[in-house]
Amino acid sequence: MLLQVLGTAAGGGIPQWNCACPGCSGARAHPHWRRRHASLAVRAAEGRWYIVNATPDIGDQIEDFPALHPGPEARHTPLAGLVLTDAELDHTLGIARLREARSLEVLATGAVRDALHTRLHLGAVLGPYTALTWRELPGERAEPLDEHSGLEISAIPVSGKRPRYAADSGPDDDTWVVALRLTDRATGASAVYAPALAAWPDALQKAVTEADCVIVDGTFWDDEEPRRTGISTRTATGMGHLPIEGPGGTAERLAPLGARCLYTHLNNTNPLVDPGAPQHERLAEWGIGAATDGMVIEL
Ligand code: MLT
Ligand code: MN
Ligand code: ZN
Repeated sequence: MLLQVLGTAAGGGIPQWNCACPGCSGARAHPHWRRRHASLAVRAAEGRWYIVNATPDIGDQIEDFPALHPGPEARHTPLAGLVLTDAELDHTLGIARLREARSLEVLATGAVRDALHTRLHLGAVLGPYTALTWRELPGERAEPLDEHSGLEISAIPVSGKRPRYAADSGPDDDTWVVALRLTDRATGASAVYAPALAAWPDALQKAVTEADCVIVDGTFWDDEEPRRTGISTRTATGMGHLPIEGPGGTAERLAPLGARCLYTHLNNTNPLVDPGAPQHERLAEWGIGAATDGMVIEL
């Protein structure tokens, strides 16, 4: 299995256009602090890739990764489709950026697909430009990622956290946000990708225990961070993101695992944005790391 991390920032990116917090200012002063919106490329087969979550940065993310470049024919792209873990704007605005595609397959849950259609009117808006083909994300029963692929994909329902634009719509269940599980049929290797975690269900615990690589929501370092930094009146948990540190945090879940564990979807207020922050040593003591843009993961 071959995965390529295309971005590791939460909504807004690092730096965020209207923010002068220490993380964003640091990223303006030191280009190596910069992070694009959280996204992952997955190789389905030779020359066929899926992108997990279509961020506002998707055009630049494709340009930065030669395996996703078009060719040799003028309009031939190795991008086979998109997989969505949720309907949040930072994970879906990039779909419109791909409107030059001849056609585009999108795997998503029914709740996510319906929110994009009934609230963002994506089907009506993009219909005159390209043919979007929607495929229901398999549930916990894995299916081949596509007919050419040795990879299987399944989705673990995580939470009913809706995007703000769809706060009052859709099913009252936990198919709004999923964790993806990718398994290589030939080697048995598996990876879990969960960039948005408002909860840690038992099925997720089982999947990460069996996985070789786990990449999860690292939006906030601790529960008070959004209030302390003044970006919100809510805690991290209240905003739908389990914090890294502290009781009920994700670090205590990840530390005992045998898997390679990485955080993604870092908010610009997260101290991990500074590569010299002591929190990186804390992570290392727990056997965890912060994913970086451009990281290649071979399993
Ligand atoms: C989130 O991850 O909670 C959302 O992307 C926040 C947002 O919409 O900016
Ligand atoms: Mn987000
Ligand atoms: Zn900032």
